[in-house]
Formats: sequence, structure tokens, C-alpha cells
Amino acid sequence: MNHKQETISRDQRWYGRRHGRKLRPARQQLLDVALPPIRVSLPDGDGAIDLAALFPEKPAALWMEIGFGTGEHLAALAAQYPDIGFIGCEPFVNGVASMLAKIEEQGLTNVRVFDDDVRLLMPHMPDASLQRLYVLFSDPWPKLRHHRRRISVPENLSQFARMMADNGTFLFATDQHDFAAWSLRHMLQEPGFEWTAQCRSDWLTPPSDWQPTRYQLKARKKGLEPVFLRLRRCSRP
Ligand SMILES: C[S@@+](CC[C@H](N)C(=O)[O-])C[C@H]1O[C@@H](n2cnc3c(N)ncnc32)[C@H](O)[C@@H]1O
Repeated sequence: MNHKQETISRDQRWYGRRHGRKLRPARQQLLDVALPPIRVSLPDGDGAIDLAALFPEKPAALWMEIGFGTGEHLAALAAQYPDIGFIGCEPFVNGVASMLAKIEEQGLTNVRVFDDDVRLLMPHMPDASLQRLYVLFSDPWPKLRHHRRRISVPENLSQFARMMADNGTFLFATDQHDFAAWSLRHMLQEPGFEWTAQCRSDWLTPPSDWQPTRYQLKARKKGLEPVFLRLRRCSRP
């Protein structure tokens, strides 16, 4: 577990599950041995993360996935784009262990993992450092009184915009159409982003390099079709 959980205020505290079923010894071993060399650690104090040290192989670009779950999408993309550096963020320990298993099985060398709440990491990410950001099927928190727990609250959107490079792409997918509409309303109010959709098919069609996620497949079984919101990071003046 990373690090400065106490710096998240009571109001913002973590609401998701951190642990699921007891881990098998092989999975625990992955957490103990395979995670430390690729873990994203927070710097002491308020400084920015040294991305060049984190990715000494100098990838062509950096992409981030927030809430990768068990890592199907992240692992598939990392295999498809070996010249890109990936930062995956996920506080659910069993999900992190599943992702580590995929990294090991596929011999992926271009993934780093932040195994905690992304809100701890974001203030330490340099401005304009990400060319792509994925937030896929995040928890919809349907009750009105829980809406402030949603990942697409304005303060997170402004951090996303700050972290993203000009013309970078933020992809937000969900099968909950009310949640999509709520999120889009906030996205349209964030000056750093522009919604790129021109017509209906633009938000119903996944990107050409799309890899289905576990939650998407679950939703499909219930007959729910996802919405894909693509936002462009506007150019800075
Ligand atoms: C509904 S699951 C979807 C998982 C995966 N993206 C998929 O589509 O299968 C949402 C995931 O987001 C993670 N999550 C929620 N809030 C987060 C946060 N603040 N930082 C990082 N991950 C978060 C949860 O732990 C959970 O694994």
C-alpha cells in the first residue's frame, strides 16, 4: 500500500474495496516481489514525481489508466504499444495482484503501478505529462448523496486536465447512461477539455484499439451498452 492515506481529508476518504478474497500464495508473492520494482512511489514533500527515473527506457509517450480493476485493458494496451509507458492506478489489492500476473505472463516491461487512490498521486504528477488518460467503467455511485464520490467530480477533472498534454485524449467509458450524462456536464464545464463527438456514433463506438474490460463484459451480459466519451485536452495559450 502506498503511502500518505492520511493526507486525504475525511471528506475524500477512500470508499472502495481494498481487499477481496484471500490471496493465493503465488499472488501474494507477486505483490511482495514483482510490485516493488515497478511501483510508483510518492516523493517526500510536495514535489513532482521524477518520470524520467520511473521510465529510464524513455517511452515515446505516457498513458495512464485510473481504476484498472483486474487489468485486462491495461495489459492488452501495454502489449499492443510496447513503446508507450503506462501508469496504472488501482487500490484494490486483488486487482493489482491480477495485473502483476498479466505483466509477468506477458513479459511486459512498460507498466508502472500506483497501488493506491489516484487522488494521492495526482498532485505529484508533472503538468502536461500524459498523452492519454483512461477512466473505464468507474463506480457510478448512483445515490444522490454519494455523487461526490464519483471520479468525475470537478476537482478530479481539473487535475486530469492539468496532467494532460495539449491535444491528449481522455477516454471515459461507462455503461450507466445517467452517470455518463452527469460526468459529461462536468467535463463540458472544465475549460481544459473539449468533447470531440460530432454525432451519436462517436459516443457509442469504442476506439479502434479498444480492449474490453471485465466490467464492460459484465454489463454486456445484462444488456447494457457502454458510452465512450472522448475529450481532447485543449491547447494551452
Ligand atoms: C467498477 S471497477 C472497474 C474496473 C475496470 N476499469 C473494469 O472496467 O473492469 C472501478 C475500479 O476503480 C477503482 N477506483 C475507484 N476509485 C479510485 C481511485 N480514486 N483511484 C484509483 N482507482 C480507483 C476501484 O478500486 C475499482 O477497481
